[in-house]
Amino acid sequence: MVRDKGCGEVRETDIGSHISLAGWVFRRRDHGGLIFVDMRDRSGVSQVVFSPDVSENAHELAHALRSEFVVAVSGEVRRRPEGTDNPNLPTGTIELYAHTLIVLNEASPLPFTMEEAAEAAESLRLKYRYLDLRRPELQNNLIIRHKTTKLIRDYLDGKHFLELETPMLTKSTPEGARDYLVPSRLNPGHFYALPQSPQLFKQILMVAGLERYFQVVKCFRDEDLRADRQPEFTQVDLEMSFVERENIITLVEAMMKLLFQTILDREITAPFPRLSYKESMERFGNDKPDLRFDLELQEMADLAQHGSFKVFTDAIQSGGRVKAVNGKGMSGLSRKDIDMLTEEAKTFGAKGLAWIKVKGGFESPIAKFFPEAILRQMAERLHAEEGDLMLFVADSEKVVHDVLSRMRLELARRLNLIRPGFTFAWVLDFPLFEWNEEEKRFQAMHHPFTAPADEDIEKMLSERMIDREGIASMKAKAYDIVLNGYEIGGGSIRIHRRDVQEKMFELLNISENDARLKFGFLLDALEYGAPPHGGIALGLDRLVMLMVGATSIRDVIAFPKTQKAFCLMSGAPSTVEQKQLKELHIRLANDVVLEK
Ligand code: AMO
Ligand code: AMP
Repeated sequence: MVRDKGCGEVRETDIGSHISLAGWVFRRRDHGGLIFVDMRDRSGVSQVVFSPDVSENAHELAHALRSEFVVAVSGEVRRRPEGTDNPNLPTGTIELYAHTLIVLNEASPLPFTMEEAAEAAESLRLKYRYLDLRRPELQNNLIIRHKTTKLIRDYLDGKHFLELETPMLTKSTPEGARDYLVPSRLNPGHFYALPQSPQLFKQILMVAGLERYFQVVKCFRDEDLRADRQPEFTQVDLEMSFVERENIITLVEAMMKLLFQTILDREITAPFPRLSYKESMERFGNDKPDLRFDLELQEMADLAQHGSFKVFTDAIQSGGRVKAVNGKGMSGLSRKDIDMLTEEAKTFGAKGLAWIKVKGGFESPIAKFFPEAILRQMAERLHAEEGDLMLFVADSEKVVHDVLSRMRLELARRLNLIRPGFTFAWVLDFPLFEWNEEEKRFQAMHHPFTAPADEDIEKMLSERMIDREGIASMKAKAYDIVLNGYEIGGGSIRIHRRDVQEKMFELLNISENDARLKFGFLLDALEYGAPPHGGIALGLDRLVMLMVGATSIRDVIAFPKTQKAFCLMSGAPSTVEQKQLKELHIRLANDVVLEK
């Protein structure tokens, strides 16, 4: 039997004609005389009616149908009887009266019903991912994902980009995570690294004169996983020669406008707001500000120093910060509620959460430490009015920003402040380096191939010794694109001169020898006519997650992994045969205990 159309495509114009459908049994209602089956395929659902008056044979067979049996049905399309329309379905006014039914395949009893699949435990859904993926919601996510990559490909093709592939078996490209290593059978003791990004190869494609490259590419990072992080994820990676920051920004803004317009029918206004890294940190506490609501962080140290609350004065004296946010209308919170909020702040890393209610004056265990005039100035700065709750954190700058940026999100959720829609922003003027306190050394804020600001290049090359402050103050020609509080992409103008790249490695404490071993091919390439170039990589999974309104990238990836980087469906990673290890010249350490 050949199917004529999709289950979701039958319309009133088909009434009277004989058609064939194929799909899955979604729901079955046995009304004795009549059996109703909702038949589903990717296009949607049609109601099929089995009546003994039309075909005794088909009606008899239909008794045995169970959820998710695969069937083919032919019959006559009829108008549904008056009063039985389903206005929620595009096929809601018609039904198919079956005269033949073929069971193409049966299905065992399901681990979860299709109707309740969305509520089933995620581990079960991931194990039976093929069942989970039958849900229209997840199918729609994958359809949007497809449309997004297709549109991006067409858009970039129109801008004369070439889609080129780069190796998966390669050398480590540092993007701040651990590498996934692949042992080489032919070269004992040698390993490939799966790419954390195609960064070096795309730069070398620019040296090679390809001028405009892009790739929809898998990247691999062995890092701690979260709702917006997977060990393998997809980038829309691109690179251009002879460009400056503005060219990349304009290109990406136009691409976003096109995507949201074409796929979601949403008008996005460009240019997107721009913030410097510093401004973003000061106002929102992080470098991926959610601009769908205000609730900005306010400086309080200058006022707090006029009081005698030791927590605040100690923090200021040891070089830390005191900042606050305003919980609008939250002065009604009980002690217990505030204790819970404090506990939450502690899980974010705070030592405590100081609070002052504006409630016919100032109500707070710490109010007594401050002159009335100071309390009034604090309230003024936070735009705190009668009924509000001022929340303070005092600590190192890192902790203050970290905690308050998360409190800001938490409060926005509680207070329903988040405006619907899509709010983009660019974060610019990043520092070139950040201090790694654990390892007591500077590391690249983005990656070591990011170009320093012009004045910092001069400084790097002219000064023999640059002190810690000098290094910390250098700026990068880097940019991140942020959507609704998620970093959906990052890029930069690159270093295209060997001397600058070598100096960069030197400042990162990478020895000449190490630089040659790890990045010699890049350094060499930079010596043979490397054009100025720059690019960006967008996190496709995050972008699509936000487009479809999902809260985890797992919902827009066909076969995602768990927090522990497991594929519950296939069982990867798994142990391998001794023989295979031997071929790879690998022996497991004695302390490895293999689970059965
Ligand atoms: P970056 O490391 O910022 O830049 O990565 C680009 C974007 O990829 C997404 N992303 C992730 N998505 C899901 N799971 C992950 N584990 C994950 N890690 C990153 C983010 C991020 O913004 N080579 C540079 C780009 C460049 O300089 O052109 C790079 O990889 O959305
Ligand atoms: P304590 O003096 O420890 O009883 O704290 C008094 C108030 O200050 C409590 O509400 C604490 O939650 C709060 N607090 C303690 N440490 C900090 C801190 N580092 N930043 C802000 N508030 C704090």
